[in-house]
Amino acid sequence: MKSILVTGASGQIGSELVAKLQDVYGEDNVVATDIRKSPDAAQQSAGPFEILDVTDGKRMFEIAKQYDVDTVIHLAALLSARAEENPQLAWNLNMTGLVNGLEVARQLDCQFFTPSSIAAFGPSTPKSGTPQDTLQRPNTIYGVTKVSGELLCDYYHSKFGVDTRGVRFPGLISYVTPPGGGTTDYAVEIYYHAVQYGNYTSFIGKGTYMDMMYMPDALDAIVQLMEADGDKLVHRNAFNITAMSVAPEDIESAIQELMPGFAVSYAVDPVRQAIADSWPSSIDSSCAEMEWGFRPRYDLGEMTKDMLLKLHRKLQVKTS
Ligand SMILES: NC(=O)c1ccc[n+]([C@@H]2O[C@H](COP(=O)([O-])OP(=O)(O)OC[C@H]3O[C@@H](n4cnc5c(N)ncnc54)[C@H](O)[C@@H]3O)[C@@H](O)[C@H]2O)c1
Repeated sequence: MKSILVTGASGQIGSELVAKLQDVYGEDNVVATDIRKSPDAAQQSAGPFEILDVTDGKRMFEIAKQYDVDTVIHLAALLSARAEENPQLAWNLNMTGLVNGLEVARQLDCQFFTPSSIAAFGPSTPKSGTPQDTLQRPNTIYGVTKVSGELLCDYYHSKFGVDTRGVRFPGLISYVTPPGGGTTDYAVEIYYHAVQYGNYTSFIGKGTYMDMMYMPDALDAIVQLMEADGDKLVHRNAFNITAMSVAPEDIESAIQELMPGFAVSYAVDPVRQAIADSWPSSIDSSCAEMEWGFRPRYDLGEMTKDMLLKLHRKLQVKTS
């Protein structure tokens, strides 16, 4: 990776990934693009930024050519809960955007990364210790686009030799940019509410286990996989990766270690609960560990400490 185009760069992952890539590869070598600028001026990319609607393949190609990029990191997508509200938009954005990104990579000989998700699994998938290679029959439109995307990335590698790579992200927890409408968003909100109000009402029910990861580990995983020796990759796309499998009450307990008065109540949203129930409770990331050395640094306790510290600073709330 020497010159990198990032789509969906103003979102939860992109806003932090662009800054990290700029640190590693140089400010001018990362071209951030999105359909909108970041609403938070502080998060606006310091390097080049271009408005790009990823469904416009011609414009994507022009920007990639103009900046002579050798890598495309394609993040723009509609996430699970928002996709269920507008399945047609989700299919169009997630699939047309992906095909356009892959075509740019094919025509300009770029390395290509896009994230899949634990949403690529479904109710018939083994629920715990979910293997890398297993049944994938998701029943959400988001999941359908993610499985299709995994297959398409494999196809572009085998058919055209494009160096496609990817991971299946679990729910990502971060304090910089709010999440964009996923089912695991509760695991971010819970920290904001702990700091701002001292309590939280969860839209995901008690006992619902899902995989999660702290953003710094997710960003490291992207760079590590992209820099990995391609000859050692058996799977290339859609590596299972996770740092923890947690339910709302586990996060509640971790927060209570530092904020004893914190309490969670429940008002379950049936739509997002049904999505959560269709996903694995814990996935097996051993292929990523073996093939490219994936190893997360943050467990629930370490992540909670850091999240609360950073949110207290960000929201300027005094620690008691
Ligand atoms: N955040 C997570 O927990 C998570 C988990 C698994 C997978 N993923 C995947 O990671 C990727 C990035 O997710 P995120 O959490 O940063 O999402 P996000 O919703 O926070 O950001 C998506 C960005 O895409 C932009 N966008 C929307 N329509 C666009 C268009 N037509 N053209 C260009 N940009 C457009 C939005 O403005 C937004 O900035 C997605 O593919 C998502 O499926 C995320």
